[in-house]
Amino acid sequence: MRIIKIFDTTLRDGEQSPGASMNTAEKLLVAKQLAKLGVDVIEAGFAYSSPGDFEAIKTIGNEVEGPVICSLARAREEDIKSAYEALKDAPKKRIHTFHSTSDIHLKYQFRVSREEALKRSVEMVKLARSFVDDVEFSPMDATRTDINYLCEVVEAVIEAGASTVNIPDTVGYIIPVEFGNIIKTLFERVKNINKAIISVHCHNDLGLSTSNSLSAVLNGAGQIECTINGIGERAGNCSLEEVVMALRTRKDLFKADTKIKTEEIIRTSRLITKITGIAVQPNKAIVGANAFAHESGIHQDGLLKEKSTYEIIRPESIGLYSTKLVLGKHSGRHAFKTRLKELGYVLSDEELNKVFEKFKKLADQKKDIFDEDIEALVSEGSVEVPEFYSLVDLYIASGVNQKPTAAIKLKAGEEIIDKLEHGDGPVDATYKAISAITGTKSKLLKFEVKGITGGTDALGEVIVSLEEDNRTVRGHGADTDIIVAAAKAYINALNKLAARKK
Ligand code: KIV
Ligand code: ZN
Repeated sequence: MRIIKIFDTTLRDGEQSPGASMNTAEKLLVAKQLAKLGVDVIEAGFAYSSPGDFEAIKTIGNEVEGPVICSLARAREEDIKSAYEALKDAPKKRIHTFHSTSDIHLKYQFRVSREEALKRSVEMVKLARSFVDDVEFSPMDATRTDINYLCEVVEAVIEAGASTVNIPDTVGYIIPVEFGNIIKTLFERVKNINKAIISVHCHNDLGLSTSNSLSAVLNGAGQIECTINGIGERAGNCSLEEVVMALRTRKDLFKADTKIKTEEIIRTSRLITKITGIAVQPNKAIVGANAFAHESGIHQDGLLKEKSTYEIIRPESIGLYSTKLVLGKHSGRHAFKTRLKELGYVLSDEELNKVFEKFKKLADQKKDIFDEDIEALVSEGSVEVPEFYSLVDLYIASGVNQKPTAAIKLKAGEEIIDKLEHGDGPVDATYKAISAITGTKSKLLKFEVKGITGGTDALGEVIVSLEEDNRTVRGHGADTDIIVAAAKAYINALNKLAARKK
């Protein structure tokens, strides 16, 4: 059984999804979860692209144990030096440098000849090798590159010291049978190919990124680059959960597997949704809400008789358990801590105290507390934001033939400020009042509400995106009262903007 390496690029290519940018604290949280998931490599960012990326790579390199930490770098001296600076204290580090190789890119974008591109690629791989032992090279737009030239580049960069060569389908153009043939040709023609791992990096413009990656594995690829929930540039990247579960489910065919701890998949997927605000479509393979929902009577009948009739993956194998009634108002701290542990959360005493306090408040409002409620409580405070603003009180009046009104009391620094506003609805009135108190100039880009569990007493979760000075932040709020959840989400986002200004 071959072990295929999983190179996760959620924090780099995934972050290139519109609106998915993450701050360092959020990236660190994701990286720690990716380490739990068992990925081999985390591409933590593109060090030269911004001070924020540089800092995130450095922090992740210093604090996350297990996977190799990688920074992207164009085939330029300044990029490679910056990648090294960000990574230098990380125990396991990789520099991933790239240069386009397709004629379309060379002619129209870079205006260099094939010879010049090859020379620069080799020089930059050598430069990266002078800093670190683990260097990856990507011939960008490889799938639209002349195959003879591609073979020449791959051979030259391996000769120069690249230990991984990644073949990107940058524009999501290739079809599985063709991609398999490209990989096969590389193995047949590149003399030193066995000195490197051949990786693949597929985009999903034609919805084929998972199929293309699997076709590459069948033809010898040893590393797959992918993202959680398939987020990424344009239509996204190959989705980690799909490709990993395809290999695990069809080991018989692929004769290959990964080291991923699949039981962590759902938790990782939910964390990414929470942090990026990008929801997963209900029918998404593996992690969509309907992925294990059987509606048809014939299917349900078969399942009741024998699970394998209609189920090819056990939900528990990806960490999905049927919602269980777990705790209530009379549950104590010990039971709560035990349940948290069963759900995979190990909290410090201080964190536990905070979450337990929230749990008690929730238990007063809601009779039955489900696993999903507990997860919401834990992740609500998972990225610490200094609380300049906090909600003290909120009174709402609205109804048929009533003018929606919000009376809010907000703590701003040391001051307590009251405001009453009317609006088109209770959320609108609340947001007007908060905005009047804070004087925010930010623009509300997105407002999303969802019920965390079923029932009218369920926790409701609100996610908002705000934009100010070309920066986007997301805020979360959860409460049994949806208007309070909306107020908390707005305040959470305003606190993030305030922290950024500081
Ligand atoms: O899609 C792509 O070609 C990339 C490279 C930087 C590997 O993301
Ligand atoms: Zn990409």
